[in-house]
Amino acid sequence: MTSILVTGGAGYIGSHTAKALAESGYRPVVLDNLFRGHRSAVRYGPFVEADIRDSEAVRQTIRDHKIEAIVHFAALAYVGESVEQPGLYFSNNVEGFRTVLQMAAEEGVGKVVFSSSCTTYGNPDRVPIDESCPQSAVSPYGDTKLIGEGLLRWFEDAYGIRSVALRYFNAAGADPDGELGEDHDPETHLIPNAILAAMGRKPTLSLFGADYPTRDGTNERDYVHVADLASAHVASLQYLHDGGSSTAMNLGSETGSTVREVIAMVEAVSGQTVPVVEGPRRPGDAVALYASANMARSVLGWHPKHSDLKTICETAWQWHSGR
Ligand SMILES: NC(=O)c1ccc[n+]([C@@H]2O[C@H](COP(=O)([O-])OP(=O)(O)OC[C@H]3O[C@@H](n4cnc5c(N)ncnc54)[C@H](O)[C@@H]3O)[C@@H](O)[C@H]2O)c1
Repeated sequence: MTSILVTGGAGYIGSHTAKALAESGYRPVVLDNLFRGHRSAVRYGPFVEADIRDSEAVRQTIRDHKIEAIVHFAALAYVGESVEQPGLYFSNNVEGFRTVLQMAAEEGVGKVVFSSSCTTYGNPDRVPIDESCPQSAVSPYGDTKLIGEGLLRWFEDAYGIRSVALRYFNAAGADPDGELGEDHDPETHLIPNAILAAMGRKPTLSLFGADYPTRDGTNERDYVHVADLASAHVASLQYLHDGGSSTAMNLGSETGSTVREVIAMVEAVSGQTVPVVEGPRRPGDAVALYASANMARSVLGWHPKHSDLKTICETAWQWHSGR
């Protein structure tokens, strides 16, 4: 059985991807320091508790498990926190990824799939965002992802490591079987926060800006189901296995949903009211961000199956309801 190192596999997208890998016949070996992840989400293969900046732990894991490819999720991922603590983000995300790549090079692992982000496009001047849009991050977090894509290019030049960088839009939803879900602390994402407010586990949901030039005044984002992200990682490994050359591409639903549409959908699937407090716009928030996923369709044969807003909210609601 082919062993895949899944860094950050105790986290939200990593745990769903470990499940998809196991279902596709791979052996996912999760390495995570549990800073933001959960031991209980590691259910589909071996677990190594370690930090990606610990080069010897990464090396030993590659050796012990005869790792053939790496799927790299481990990162800190809050834009606001990255503005307050840029050093933490560059240490964790950039130095961490450099260490993983260095160990891959020294141990002869030649295939990497990397969690990049739509934040590498900053505030683009057109939507849908395709891969020809200029990349220019507007936060330390976004910059760490942009540098990650750069590291991949240099490590390919030097050591021949081939890679797929996947630029996710907003990951959302939960495992359709109900085994896994989104459990961040602190939670900054709209859909879980709307659900928690509907359940009374948070007093209110804050809405930042109701005067945007959109159909209902709130800003638009592209929500893509976490199970569809997971399947794209499996497809990326197959692409690299088949000899595909290094590439980077968007993963999104190609639909912009407004904040009010998300709230209405959470209310519809739950039968509960979401108590909303409207506030001013947040500095730096773009009006509308959504993807073109043409490239993922044509290169990976990726066809999202769960990324309509109703399925996203239903699966997320079911998972939160079972906790
Ligand atoms: N959630 C999204 O909408 C989204 C969008 C674009 C990109 N991404 C990227 O996808 C990846 C996964 O995101 P997520 O939402 O699942 O986040 P998450 O916080 O749930 O998962 C990240 C995991 O990485 C682990 N980790 C962090 N630093 C580590 C370190 N130094 N050593 C070992 N483990 C470490 C955490 O403990 C956690 O389990 C991240 O790289 C993130 O930047 C996420």
